[in-house]
Amino acid sequence: MKKIIAVDGPAGAGKSTVSKIVAAKLGYTYIDTGAMYRAVALKSSQTCEDLIMIIDKINIELDDKAQVFLDGVNVTKEIRTPEISKLASDVSKFGFVRKRLTELQRQMAERGAVIMDGRDIGTQVLPNADLKIFLTASLDERARRRFEELKAKGQSVDFDAIKTEIALRDKQDSEREIAPLKQAEDAILIDSTNLQVEEVVEKILTLCSTD
Ligand code: DC
Repeated sequence: MKKIIAVDGPAGAGKSTVSKIVAAKLGYTYIDTGAMYRAVALKSSQTCEDLIMIIDKINIELDDKAQVFLDGVNVTKEIRTPEISKLASDVSKFGFVRKRLTELQRQMAERGAVIMDGRDIGTQVLPNADLKIFLTASLDERARRRFEELKAKGQSVDFDAIKTEIALRDKQDSEREIAPLKQAEDAILIDSTNLQVEEVVEKILTLCSTD
């Protein structure tokens, strides 16, 4: 059985939905690295301090229900706004931010039995992962899913605005100099455009159990 699983891919591909279910089925720890970049972004929006100072002393914790704690405060909801999505992508460009979060992510994975999702997990954070997945879907499908998700939460949303936001963030994440979003050479590509969540979960579970 594969013990360390890396899942990368563009925004809205379903990485966290699928990874959470796989983690629950296998009894693994799920680590959402995007939430960590979001926590840094939230902190930087709350203070005038330099990012370098923030990174030096920031405390980020993830619990087993995928809740996110920033300096002891539960910020699980606050980090999910469009403004923080954009700011998370902005702060993730800096080498010193990535260095610190990569260290934390590696520590979190040390015990094994983890599934970690993000942009650079297979390429940088856990290059020796037992299984690497690159999960993607068409831009239209990713925007449609995000649109439905926000609508279900009662938020007033505009499909074209969501699509533009996702496309811009993907471009920024793929074109940055340090640890850009890209498929690791040994990652398995799963295009979920025409797949249900359960089908993607099944594929990953099968890959986990085959040698
Ligand atoms: O996965 P997410 O949408 O919550 O991630 C938010 C941003 O954080 C994403 O646009 C880029 C950054 N990020 C990153 O640079 N590296 C990761 N491993 C995870 C996220």
